[in-house]
Formats: sequence, structure tokens, C-alpha cells
Amino acid sequence: MGATTYAKELSPIESLKRKIVEEGIVLGDQVLKVDSFLNHRVDPVLMAEIGDTFARLFAESGVVKVLTIESSGIAPALMTALRLNVPLIFARKRKSLTLQSDLYTEKAYSFTKREENEITVSKRFIKAGDRVLIVDDFLANGQAALALARIVEQAGAEVAGIGIVIEKSFQSGRQQLLEAGYRVESLARIASLEDGTIRFAD
Ligand code: G4P
Repeated sequence: MGATTYAKELSPIESLKRKIVEEGIVLGDQVLKVDSFLNHRVDPVLMAEIGDTFARLFAESGVVKVLTIESSGIAPALMTALRLNVPLIFARKRKSLTLQSDLYTEKAYSFTKREENEITVSKRFIKAGDRVLIVDDFLANGQAALALARIVEQAGAEVAGIGIVIEKSFQSGRQQLLEAGYRVESLARIASLEDGTIRFAD
């Protein structure tokens, strides 16, 4: 119940865009609420399609691990990891009981939430030489993705690419990630949310 069956002819990207148009709620000019299928209730059929799409896009990238950040990145990242047949690791925002010295730690400032998160990943789970695909639900100012990339690099591993479900192209994230030299694949790119209307970039 709650999962949608899509007409066969819709591509995964079209399915995602249709969901955004039909169920997205625009808050001001900056925020798109999608808690009916991505951020609170989760649509497993759509997540599987997203996983298929990222797996196809990064099939030749030698990915050995997928990395995301809790909580809303986990669903699309898990489906991507399943399709690539590699493990998923999610960075934690809460302090764990593990010794600080066993963790990679980075700070990620959230402009949306106006708070700084300290994010951590156990050193046991990313190793030097790993090629790591970063997946996240939203790209706004890029701070979460950049913090994840710094963790990958702290480990002596390599960022194989960055997969984003919904990019807000009117914010600086994409530019920042491209300038840092990463390959960015966003499934839905939103050019503007002005006047309560969702306009896609392509
Ligand atoms: P950034 O990483 O790209 O700089 O984004 P920012 O810090 O501004 O975003 C902070 C949180 O808000 C992230 O989730 C991000 O996914 C989410 N977010 C940003 N813009 C939007 C938006 O327009 N709509 C929705 N629905 N979310 C947005 P988070 O704090 O990690 O939350 P969660 O993953 O625990 O749900």
C-alpha cells in the first residue's frame, strides 16, 4: 500500500518528475517538500527505479561502496547499492559510542536548517583505494556531499561520482561539486520554485 505502479512507458526520471509535480509542495521560493515519497513516507517502487538508474549511470565507474548520510539518503542509496551489488554505508549525524579515534569526522553546515552537523563514519568501513559512490536525496548548497567527499578522501579512498535524486539548480551545490572535480548526476534538476511553481532545468 502506498507504493505506486507506473505506466510501463515512463522512464524512471519521468516517473520521478511526475511524482515531484503531483506530490511536491513548494514552501517559499527555496524548499520543496517531498515527504510523501522520499523524506517521510517512502515509495519503494520509485526507490528501486532510482537505484537502477544510478547503477546504470555509474556502471563503468568501478564502485565498491555507496556512501550516504542519514536519514533520507538511505532509501535511494540502499537501492543503488543493491543494484551495484556493493555495501551501503551511511554517515551518522549523532555521536556514536565508538571511540572518536576510530571515526572519520567532518562538519557540514546546513543552510536550510541553519545548524552545523558533525558527521561521522567508522574507519572500519572505508579503506584506502576504495572507489566510493556518494548518493543523496537533495542537493542544495552541497555541504553534505562535500563533507562526505572529504571523509572519503580522509580515508585515502576516491570519489567515483555523486548521484543526487533532486537537485535545486538555483542553489550553489552543483557548481561547488563540479569545481571540486566530481562527476555529478542529478535525476531531477529544479530550475526554480518561484511563485509556487516547480520549473525543471531541462
Ligand atoms: P546541502 O547539504 O546541499 O548544503 O543542503 P542543506 O544543508 O541546505 O540541507 C540540509 C537538509 O535539508 C538536508 O537534509 C537536505 O537533504 C535537506 N534539503 C535541502 N533543501 C531541501 C528541499 O528543498 N526540500 C527538502 N525536502 N529537503 C531539503 P537532512 O538535514 O540531512 O535531513 P534528513 O536526510 O535527515 O531528512
